Amino acid sequence: MAEIIPVDPFDYIVFGGTGDLARRKLLPALYHRFVDGQIPDGAQIIGVSRSPLDHDGYRQSINDACRTFLPAEDIDEKALADFLTIVHHISLDALDDDADWSELRALLNDDTRVRVFYMATAPRLYGPVAQNLDAQGLITPATRIVLEKPIGTDLASARAINDAVGAVFDEQAIYRIDHYLGKETVQNLMALRFANALFEPLWSNAAVDHIQITVAETVGVEGRASYYDHSGALRDMVQNHLVQLLCLTAMEPPSTFDAGCVRDEKLKVLRALRPITRAEVERKTVRGQYRKGAVNEQAVLGYLDEEGVAPSSTTESFCVIKAEIDNWRWAGVPFYLRTGKRMALRASEIVVSFKEVKHSIFTDDAGKLHANKLVIRLQPDEGISLDLMTKEPGPGGMRLKPAELNLSFADAFNVRNPEAYERLLMDVVRGNQTLFMHRKEVEAAWQWVEPILDGWRDTKQEAHGYMAGGLGPAASIALIERDGRTWDDELL
Ligand code: BG6
Repeated sequence: MAEIIPVDPFDYIVFGGTGDLARRKLLPALYHRFVDGQIPDGAQIIGVSRSPLDHDGYRQSINDACRTFLPAEDIDEKALADFLTIVHHISLDALDDDADWSELRALLNDDTRVRVFYMATAPRLYGPVAQNLDAQGLITPATRIVLEKPIGTDLASARAINDAVGAVFDEQAIYRIDHYLGKETVQNLMALRFANALFEPLWSNAAVDHIQITVAETVGVEGRASYYDHSGALRDMVQNHLVQLLCLTAMEPPSTFDAGCVRDEKLKVLRALRPITRAEVERKTVRGQYRKGAVNEQAVLGYLDEEGVAPSSTTESFCVIKAEIDNWRWAGVPFYLRTGKRMALRASEIVVSFKEVKHSIFTDDAGKLHANKLVIRLQPDEGISLDLMTKEPGPGGMRLKPAELNLSFADAFNVRNPEAYERLLMDVVRGNQTLFMHRKEVEAAWQWVEPILDGWRDTKQEAHGYMAGGLGPAASIALIERDGRTWDDELL
């Protein structure tokens, strides 16, 4: 079993406690931490929502959620029953000035404990709820607040949220979560880069030709159209998850692995991202929207037929951006970012494509020399592989073939790969902000993304149709092929 870092008893209060995120991810993640022995006796998990559920009703709903969203083999009946005894529910409209907070206050009766308020609600509530927490005297020196994405829909709204929450909480008490940073392989990217001497000398435009970052999903809008149709892939995935992956791939080595140093280096990358102007959006970006098709041999609806999507919606469920970083290390190395829903497979990877050998000593009949490629697989089958050219075994001259050095984390380490939220939820309790975003990062990411959104609006950039279960629109292939490159689609 992985090592557990012990923590003192704490109070975890989840606003939006009956919502999709709480049921699907947060409570199941806390259950896992409980099973692994990281949640000490006396800790409390309190769901807050407007629903009239009592404690037992809520426990029943979390019981159902754990059984629905966790694999059956993860359910230990005794552990689940014990876990539910520390789960509580408070019915409260946190925005109502006349709401009665006394029940919640009664549960939070130890002001010396770590207290975490997790905002799993619509982002427009973050500021007002923070202010009410303050007015209710619930913010102690050991209180932290967790803000889920999306933080805003553009730079101005992100600033407004950060200002409103910042008026009540210090930056050190604010944890802006991006669950991609909690994924094991994303953290492994830092181990790969900074715990090995091998890669750093190659990690620049001297040896790297280009980098691809792909997050392909098979799911559609999953009943979230009321949010997604106003958001689209750029706001939902690129502004946060893909941009964070880009930062970790491109950042300079921080001097230590602490929050301040890591976040400063990411911020420098964000500030060096070359703006994409209105005149360039057509050349450097592609938008797509899925049409009906089949995923894993199951017929699925097109985006426009999904429940809750506006009939003539032009929201993108796919997008590609060619990003460039204006600094010494990365000048001339494009980062192709690509994400989409209803793609052929669920597959996320970062592919570092190295330059070709400068001069081949082999004759043409040895075969084509392929450039080396380092693939960091985030999901599924987390691992790292390196494509090398090798000699094909056997006599009969020198024939060259690409072969793969493959490290699969499942094979190398025989442990359950924790869900991203497990690590992050407990990092908040431990007071470790390394894998959370500083407000400056969120705002710098919006600063880069917003002109793309404006460019799309002003140039009425089309969302190209693509068949569900495919590789995305043809225009996304054309975008990279114009540069003489191709997508690394072995996984897809
Ligand atoms: C969320 C997005 O942040 O990430 C979803 O809002 C998306 O639209 C999800 O499906 C993907 O996360 P994961 O961990 O399944 O890759």
